[in-house]
Amino acid sequence: MKAVRVLEYGGQLVFNDVPTPTIARDEMLVKIKSTAVNHVDLVKAAGTARQVLPIDLPWIPGHEFSGVVEQIGSDVGAFAPGDAVFGATSGMGAYAEYVAVKAAVIARKPSNLSFEEAASVPVASQTAWHGIFTHGHLEKGQTILIHGGAGAVGAYAVQLASHAGATVIATASGDDETYLKSIGASRVIDYREAQFEKVVREKVDVVFDLVGGDTQKRSFLVLKEGGHLVSATQPVSHEEAARRRVTGAMMRLAPSGDVLARIARLLEDGTIRPDVATVYAFQDAAQAWKDIAGNLPGVHGMSPNGPGAARRKSHGKIVLRVA
Ligand SMILES: NC(=O)c1ccc[n+]([C@@H]2O[C@H](COP(=O)([O-])OP(=O)(O)OC[C@H]3O[C@@H](n4cnc5c(N)ncnc54)[C@H](OP(=O)(O)O)[C@@H]3O)[C@@H](O)[C@H]2O)c1
Repeated sequence: MKAVRVLEYGGQLVFNDVPTPTIARDEMLVKIKSTAVNHVDLVKAAGTARQVLPIDLPWIPGHEFSGVVEQIGSDVGAFAPGDAVFGATSGMGAYAEYVAVKAAVIARKPSNLSFEEAASVPVASQTAWHGIFTHGHLEKGQTILIHGGAGAVGAYAVQLASHAGATVIATASGDDETYLKSIGASRVIDYREAQFEKVVREKVDVVFDLVGGDTQKRSFLVLKEGGHLVSATQPVSHEEAARRRVTGAMMRLAPSGDVLARIARLLEDGTIRPDVATVYAFQDAAQAWKDIAGNLPGVHGMSPNGPGAARRKSHGKIVLRVA
């Protein structure tokens, strides 16, 4: 099969032939239609975080996909060859024509979504779900502050929290206010113009941090006692959390077919919607990485955006069309 691979840390992406994976009894072989690009693909390939995010080289990136079941293992009962599915792999390997995945982490593709749209959903939506519900314990009537609300994960967090009956405050660039209000935010704070802790008057029940750094540190100032600070970007200080009488945790996505199936139903009935920024041909993965690298400091040998650099105009994920 054709695949995109990283042969050495920081090296170029290579597009060539590799053996098609074989499956275990609890796995399925999926013929991939589309895959999506995530920051973590670039970070792992760069090797800068190899202590915490190691990879075996040569390595096929790709954490999420949509496609059609080609073959099932002997223990798989819930799916059959020909089913259209989508999911996040717990390993990687989705920049390829085929992937072997555990049946437990995938779900049926929403019928109203294209394969490109479906491939953009699993990582961002499940990260948002686990961040706000599993770790943030968000409930109806509560208030959540979402940092980076207009990003791929943030947009799902805004939609899911609003659907759950929470009041949603999001930090984002001012240009994204109309977009964020259209998907359920009650209030948008322009992080380039205002310090959120100076303008949020009522303390909030949950902060979902998709930005990190100083933004995370200042988030303690706006949390109610007993509240939850959940970060998808970096560890949270346990000392500071204890001092403020809140909980603080960094989450890491644990893909779940059950959660993804619930998200699929919300997509199918139009409660939430996916967002695809750009679709690239599979063999143009290197260009797709250049596109996304602008948002990541010093990743994969590419320069970060300097201060005042133009920001990406569209929302949503970058998708690679495989077949
Ligand atoms: N732990 C996990 O399992 C997991 C899973 C998925 C993602 N993540 C991480 O979660 C983070 C977000 O991912 P993503 O895919 O949503 O990224 P993304 O699509 O690039 O979105 C990032 C958003 O943050 C905004 N932003 C930047 N600085 C900000 C600030 N100081 N205050 C408020 N907003 C700010 C950006 O807005 P502008 O462009 O307007 O500046 C952009 O809209 C990444 O660090 C990613 O690696 C973690």
